[in-house]
Order: sequence, then structure tokens, then C-alpha cells
Amino acid sequence: MNIEHFLADDQLNKQQILDLIALARDIKQQPKGYRYALAGKSVAMIFEKPSLRTHVSFDIGINKLGGHALYLGQQNGKLGERERVSDYAKNLSCYADAIVARVFSHSSIEQLAEHGSVPVINALCDTYHPCQALADFVTLAENFPELEKVKLAYIGDANNVANSLMLMAAIVGVDFTLACPEGFAPEDKVYNKALELSQASGAKLRITNDIAALGPQDALYTDTWISMGDNRNITDVLATFKPFQVDHKLMKITGASIVMHCQPVHLEEEITTELFDSELSVAFQSAENRMWAQNAVLVTLLAD
Ligand code: NVA
Repeated sequence: MNIEHFLADDQLNKQQILDLIALARDIKQQPKGYRYALAGKSVAMIFEKPSLRTHVSFDIGINKLGGHALYLGQQNGKLGERERVSDYAKNLSCYADAIVARVFSHSSIEQLAEHGSVPVINALCDTYHPCQALADFVTLAENFPELEKVKLAYIGDANNVANSLMLMAAIVGVDFTLACPEGFAPEDKVYNKALELSQASGAKLRITNDIAALGPQDALYTDTWISMGDNRNITDVLATFKPFQVDHKLMKITGASIVMHCQPVHLEEEITTELFDSELSVAFQSAENRMWAQNAVLVTLLAD
């Protein structure tokens, strides 16, 4: 597969996504077969924001492929302040074979890719979270034998995770409904792109402010109502989003058999504790799949 970077979901076509899902599942099934896939390779990981799953799954995942991961937190100051993002990219390219970056602004990811000479992987930015979406699609493929027949509904804030899921669903051909309060819909640029992609794949794409209008679904997905870097007022947010809490009742009404969450979870906000802790929740399956999905991306970008 010929991909240079992993920056945003819409840079991949359907076959490339299906190939990455298949590769992730193969690495998961027989990790020993990939033990030396990244031998002698180093990956520099920039984190402008906190992380548990992304940091650990990349670090341990790279180790499982025989490579070396280097964590770069904020010890060098904020990205772009002590030195330009372009210089950061050029310097890291002198030593590392790839750059993983979790940043505030998507433009930082674009600059790293533009000015560096090694593959760049987006480990979350304000607009996208493609590693999460890929892991979630691995989880969907594990739970539903015919991925393209899945109906996925995202309930809550149209954030980076929602954008990436919407784009990936549109590319792969998965029906996608997003239910959010008024004023919290996806940005036009991302929505229009997803609409165009869904027309090509045949996926049905729907945005609604009416949670009662979700209709039959296979999987429900939710995420925090306040993302890292958002300055929203918590009291306002809790009041606005309260009707969009995902619970057992919504699972029953929609007929969904699984509930997904990228974590960290805010219990009793976007999801009830009872549902998150129930057997319907595949949050930890997706958390594990983060590592296999990212390893599929790393192998695709870096293996000789
Ligand atoms: N939307 C969340 C995802 C965290 C993994 C955030 O950006 O904070």
C-alpha cells in the first residue's frame, strides 16, 4: 500500500482502510510474525496534550514491532514557540524514521508532514483522531461480519473523534448518524467532505438534533462533551448536552448491540456508569485495538 503519512482519514481510500483493518487484525492474531517489522527504526512521539492510551499503545506497540519509541512531552516548550514547527520537523527527521504527533492545531500536523522528510502520524488534533477511528473500525469489523452493513450512530459533541468516524464511515460505506445539540454540529468543511465521500460509497449520512429520531442502529458511540483545549463552560455544557446522554434505554430503543467510547470517559455525563461498565461496552476492545491499528499504520509506512 502506498501511503506517505497518516494525517486525516480522508487521505485514505476505501481499499486502503480495509487493508489497514485486515493488517491490524493479522498483527493482533499473530504478533510474533511482525516482531522485527520495525527493527532498527526509531519513532519520535510529540505530545502537546495529555495521553494515556495513545502514548502507551504507541510505545508498547512500537516495541512489539522491534522498534524504538521516543517520548517528547513539553520539555522543549510549546510546539512552534521555542523553535518553528518546520525546524522541529527537520531536526527530528535527522534522527527518527517517523513522527507521531498529538497537537492542538491540525496545521501543526500539516507543517510537520510538509517540512519533515519522514512519515507523520496524527495522534489527535483539534479536527481529527484518525488512529482512534481506525481502531474503532477494527472493533466494528470484529463485532459485525459485514462491515459495510453496519449502522453507526455518534451521540454528543461533533468533535475530532466524531469527524474521523464520520469520514471513515463515509469512505468505507457504513451508514452514519450524528445526533448533537443545536450549534454543535460538525464544521461545514468536514461535513461537506464526508457528504461527498458518502455519495461515492453509498453510505447514508445524517445529522440530527433529535435524539428520538436515531432509528435502528447497530452501534452507538459517544465521547466527552468538552475536549482537551476546549474552554467551554461546564455548567452550560451539562445543561445543553444532558438529553444526549447514552444509556441502556437508548440502546434498547435503537436496538444497538454495542456501545463505543474512545475514553477517557466522563461517567454520568456522556454515558451512564451502568452502561459503560456493562457487557455491551466495547471500550476496552477498542483501547486494545488502538495498538494493533497503529501497528498496522506503522508497518505500512515504515516496514522495508
Ligand atoms: N475528543 C477528545 C478525545 C480524547 C481522546 C479530546 O480531544 O479531548
